[in-house]
Amino acid sequence: MFSLRIDDVKSGMTLAQPVFNMNGTKLLSEDAVLTEKMIQRLRNAGAKRLWVTDDSFSFLQEFGPQKIVGEAVKELDKAKAQIVAGKAFDVQVINEVAHELVEQIIINEMPFSEMVRMKSTETGVFEHMVDVSLLSVITAKSMGMDRLDMRFLCFASLIHDVGKLLVPGEILGKPDKLSDSEMRVVKKHPQIGYDILSGIDGINKHAPVVALQHHERLDGSGYPDSIKGTQIHLYSRIVAIADIYTALIREKVYRPRLPVYEAGGILWSQADGGLDRSLTSNFLRNVVAFPLRSMVKLNNGLVGKVVYQNSDFPTRPIVSVDGEIIDLAETPTVFVTEVVAYEYD
Ligand SMILES: [Fe+2]
Repeated sequence: MFSLRIDDVKSGMTLAQPVFNMNGTKLLSEDAVLTEKMIQRLRNAGAKRLWVTDDSFSFLQEFGPQKIVGEAVKELDKAKAQIVAGKAFDVQVINEVAHELVEQIIINEMPFSEMVRMKSTETGVFEHMVDVSLLSVITAKSMGMDRLDMRFLCFASLIHDVGKLLVPGEILGKPDKLSDSEMRVVKKHPQIGYDILSGIDGINKHAPVVALQHHERLDGSGYPDSIKGTQIHLYSRIVAIADIYTALIREKVYRPRLPVYEAGGILWSQADGGLDRSLTSNFLRNVVAFPLRSMVKLNNGLVGKVVYQNSDFPTRPIVSVDGEIIDLAETPTVFVTEVVAYEYD
């Protein structure tokens, strides 16, 4: 269940907890399916936030960032035919999408992890790029990057995987392990992307660079050029983290989606060498893992509130359970299984 601001609650959502007024009188029971009238009545009664069920989130697709995401995917889809035919596509439209996404992320207070929970199946290259783009920009926002740079990053990440459009679908969607020769074809997509994008007049110069470098790793273990450290552009290092994480939390043809805590753990394990450690730590603390004051469920069934984030172990915060403090970095057998709710105020 999730706690939403009353202004974000939509008719059709289901209450996860009963609502009481100041005198303790029950206004609505849990399981009530909200109507506009009910929401207005609760607003008039002074309700600021409501707990709604997980199922309610299909309605969130209709507003805020999700709406822009839908439009972004549509715009990218329109560009597809031109890209595949080797023609330049209209980057101005993608620029506008980037502008809009950045503005939404700046004004939107919803943690991304909450948005990401809304859909679990990756449907295509475009959806993946938009998700990576959102995560990249939210990371940049948490780093204090300025608006214009965030827009450049957003634009670059929105099209970072365009090279994949020229990789045969039967390879990209293959449910089994790829053969060496198929893997070689997939590994061409950064260079293909670079070639497509660098041929477009007036394109932001970061976009081809991010397309080329987003699979490079700090220790030189990446591709296509095995470059190292700061040879890899900051934007490419951010997109690499968002790219891996997005792939982990989505269902694939060959495996189910991984829970957030597990994906976070895998990402963190790659921060030793491959990924930028400080960016990964920032990503996990601010974007993905367990924000301060979020309510989390532990594998022992207890629910607690995150009271401290351990920068050395972002997936193992200190949690208060009924006043008892548990340092998850000190208790290896206890871990977070899910975020139950976020607190904003
Ligand atoms: Fe890629």
